[in-house]
Amino acid sequence: MKKPIVIALICHKGGVGKTSSTVSLADALAATNPGKKVLIVDADEQSNVKTIFAIKMHEAEGGLASVLLDNASPSNVKIKVRDQIDVILSGGRRMREFERTHANTPNAELMMKLRFENLADYDFVVIDSPPALSLISSNIVTYADYLVLPSSPDLLSVVGVKNTLYFIENMQEVFKNSKTTVAQVLGILPTMYDSRRNVDMSIVDDYERMAEANLTGGGRVFSPIRTDIKVKTAQIKRKLLSEAFPSSKAAEDYQTLANEIMEQIKVRDAAKTSSKEEPTAKRQISSERAPEVNA
Ligand SMILES: Nc1ncnc2c1ncn2[C@@H]1O[C@H](COP(=O)(O)OP(=O)(O)OP(=O)(O)O)[C@@H](O)[C@H]1O
Ligand SMILES: [Mg+2]
Repeated sequence: MKKPIVIALICHKGGVGKTSSTVSLADALAATNPGKKVLIVDADEQSNVKTIFAIKMHEAEGGLASVLLDNASPSNVKIKVRDQIDVILSGGRRMREFERTHANTPNAELMMKLRFENLADYDFVVIDSPPALSLISSNIVTYADYLVLPSSPDLLSVVGVKNTLYFIENMQEVFKNSKTTVAQVLGILPTMYDSRRNVDMSIVDDYERMAEANLTGGGRVFSPIRTDIKVKTAQIKRKLLSEAFPSSKAAEDYQTLANEIMEQIKVRDAAKTSSKEEPTAKRQISSERAPEVNA
């Protein structure tokens, strides 16, 4: 069964561009990979993905909340929004019911992974996360393969990134000795970036230093998404950025991001393969040497 690559946009800070980046990245991945299918999952009760795609209230019923609370199948609550793109909406305030109902349920952080396990129609799943770190965030981190941390150029956003990295590290620690794999940090994504502002450049420099010092959970710093009024204007027009303003700065930047993400995933896959091969190589060396030692 074909398994999709699951990428979540997550940061413990509001208004940093998680939703805008989720939608534009999904669109850019679809454009970069003709014929491939992308599913956007909105895991935030604010349901901003619904607004961006101008989805009507009656179509929006169910959603992720229904998958998690009523055992609905993800393929029954998906909505087609473009040729290559489907969405699963959050289900709005029922997401809070999920948090309440399963606050003390053992292994509740694995529910999303279990429910989405058999989803086979997609090549990519891109998840939008809420600004708080909660039970749904734990579910996102265990279900996703990779995490991208959007960060706007301000101090509070940097704190949000650090909190998120700490949260992910804790989750990795919790599941260290289990079969459950926790998502890897693919990178930090500077958003709303303006190279004329010193503070924007110095924050990106700080992230680069953190990445070099291996303080970003193994993630890189992606090329920034420039601040661009066209992002807001496209949303007001209820159009994708690539449809309303295909040659805007931000549309270009999201295309670059899609390419960088594809490259980074290849690098990670190659590293995984070589680390799997390494023990065999070591075993071969030790068995070749064994007769010498015995002799
Ligand atoms: N590159 C950009 N240039 C200009 N404005 C942007 C850019 N990216 C996002 N915005 C705007 O910033 C605001 C916040 O973005 P968005 O809703 O994507 O953030 P968020 O992290 O999802 O917020 P929340 O935590 O509330 O879910 C929106 O009005 C959006 O249109
Ligand atoms: Mg949002």
